Amino acid sequence: MKLWGGRFTEAEDALTEAFNESLSFDKRMYKQDIKGSIAHARMLGKQGIITTEDSDAIVNGLEGILKDIEEGRLVIEGDAEDIHSFIEAELTERIGEAGKRLHTGRSRNDQVALDMKMYTRDHLDMMMGDLQSLIEAFDRLIAENAETFMPGFTHLQKAQPTTLAHHMGAYKEMFQRDLSRLGDTRDRLNECPLGAGAFAGTTYPLDREYTAKKLGFRKPTNNSMDSVSDRDYLLEYVFDLATIQMHLSRLSEEIIIWNSNEYQFVRISDAYSTGSSIMPQKKNPDIAELIRGKTGRVYGALQSLMVVMKGLPLAYNKDMQEDKEFAFDAMDTVANSVKLMQGMLSTITWNKERMEDSAKRGFTNATDVADYLVRKGVPFRTAHGYVGELVLLCEEKKCSLDDLSLEDYRKVCDKIDEDIYSAISLETCVKNRRTKGAPGELLVTASED
Ligand code: ARG
Repeated sequence: MKLWGGRFTEAEDALTEAFNESLSFDKRMYKQDIKGSIAHARMLGKQGIITTEDSDAIVNGLEGILKDIEEGRLVIEGDAEDIHSFIEAELTERIGEAGKRLHTGRSRNDQVALDMKMYTRDHLDMMMGDLQSLIEAFDRLIAENAETFMPGFTHLQKAQPTTLAHHMGAYKEMFQRDLSRLGDTRDRLNECPLGAGAFAGTTYPLDREYTAKKLGFRKPTNNSMDSVSDRDYLLEYVFDLATIQMHLSRLSEEIIIWNSNEYQFVRISDAYSTGSSIMPQKKNPDIAELIRGKTGRVYGALQSLMVVMKGLPLAYNKDMQEDKEFAFDAMDTVANSVKLMQGMLSTITWNKERMEDSAKRGFTNATDVADYLVRKGVPFRTAHGYVGELVLLCEEKKCSLDDLSLEDYRKVCDKIDEDIYSAISLETCVKNRRTKGAPGELLVTASED
């Protein structure tokens, strides 16, 4: 029988039952559900709402259930409607009457609000750890590659030279912002909805401060109606996840390009590549492609949740059960993507020679020739014109700016001297970009070390 079977006379339609159940996907919250119930039962005992004997029996029973689930002796399955019903039924089966007192002063509405919040908080804490490890992978790349030259791109066209440390530093910034965003989300999330009841609190003298503290929350939520209706914290978390995945997808895209036959800037290790069933020579960057591709489903989760919550009247509505599958999917996807990216980055081989060579070609030092002329007193706009002519000349001669003879240079502008060559060498170009945040800053720090 269902938890709520009392006022029902007809059996449930099979499709109704299947449509309504959430056990198949909310069973992953068993730990949070049990922890929440333990705190609730202790509080009921402390407040004299149930006897301490009953409270102790409930706590022991729940601890036994948790242990049995974790050690594989109890499998969460069967026709219970959801994880809350499953645990309560199991408890009553184990300890009898006392088990039926657990739900005193509680509704599944505040129970599920609590479980989902705690699950989200646990996942968020894990994500913060994983992001930290990813950032450490960037730190290592930054420390090792202040002098690894590569072309920087705009519009996917070679633009100016930079270093791998600078490029990886850009991603580090993104993931650090993500980390700080997670911190903000956690802070706002950390109020405990337990004790809100169905939505209007209860007539029992619950101690909400006590349960909030026990469960690691800063304080109980303010308004009991909002407590059971609110999923803002989840939307916020899924947005944070979507942003992380977006950053991962941009990096994946670059890795895919760099790994292509044309670029060959990197070689992805075998552990993160797969082959082709027909073309024996192929090694494909599938993991990077999947991280890029799965961004779609994470965005989908965010969009779906926004739509589920749109226009919902207060307080709890069953629509809100639809928050779980999307959110869990987004959590799994992003957590796996972050781990895989960290592994891929830590094992990737950088073809430094090829990167440097590429930085030397494609006129990435054209701006530096113009800057050289500015130092010789030529106005920047005029210098820009001269360098345009020089580039044309190079294209005719199929050479780079470094290869032009002094004679050629002087044909365009007689202010150019022998020192042009050192002024536009790759190393000088990078070294001279010493503005705050520019690649030269890292290069200078590296050579001082
Ligand atoms: N399985 C439900 C959910 O995930 C639990 C809450 C049910 N509450 C109710 N009044 N039907 O939202």
